[in-house]
Amino acid sequence: MILTYYGHSCFLLETKGVKILFDPFITPNALADKIDVDSIEADYILITHGHEDHIADAVKIGKRTGALVISNYEVVTWLQKQGLKNCHPMNHGGTKEFEFGRLKYVNAVHSSSLPDGSYGGNPGGFVLIGEITLYHAGDTALTYDMKLLGDFFSIDVALLPIGDNFTMGVEDAIIASDFIQCNNIIGMHYDTFEVIKINKDAATFLFDNAMKALTLLDIGESIELVTD
Ligand code: NI
Ligand code: MN
Repeated sequence: MILTYYGHSCFLLETKGVKILFDPFITPNALADKIDVDSIEADYILITHGHEDHIADAVKIGKRTGALVISNYEVVTWLQKQGLKNCHPMNHGGTKEFEFGRLKYVNAVHSSSLPDGSYGGNPGGFVLIGEITLYHAGDTALTYDMKLLGDFFSIDVALLPIGDNFTMGVEDAIIASDFIQCNNIIGMHYDTFEVIKINKDAATFLFDNAMKALTLLDIGESIELVTD
């Protein structure tokens, strides 16, 4: 299993011979200007919510690759209006089996309008139970709902927002890591914009102090994921 970071909340997970792209926001991201969006392959595109900084390249990549695009009902309906044909709608609490494993759409405390102002349904995150169990939290505040994930899943790696202002900051992400019972955290949703710039050394130090591992990937960097 290889995880590649494309900046902000965008990751590519390669598992069981398929490529799963989360929250594609590359073209408008100045920090990701070295990434060639037209060379990214995807079999699946998972979108946590409708905000521009999670969906910007979804139509472009979806049309080129023919990937199955999975999001909530409202986001999928909007994407279909933009010309995407291969879509799968979900909603909160629902689990569906795919070739890479089971996928559950879970709660996020945030908002979700689409780039043209259309209603984007409620925002979410994904728990992927496959070769490993991976949680992509989307954009969210710290919420007690995360305890449910800790109680019912054995999460190997969690992608958590740490940039503060629009989502959890570092301190709340550390508490979230307790709630989901996973100490292997990969940070996201930081540094992209002025208001979410963080001190990476301070963030790593705080996670270290809490006996947790915070990984901050360079944009374009890939790592091998292993189960505990
Ligand atoms: Ni958002
Ligand atoms: Mn966002």
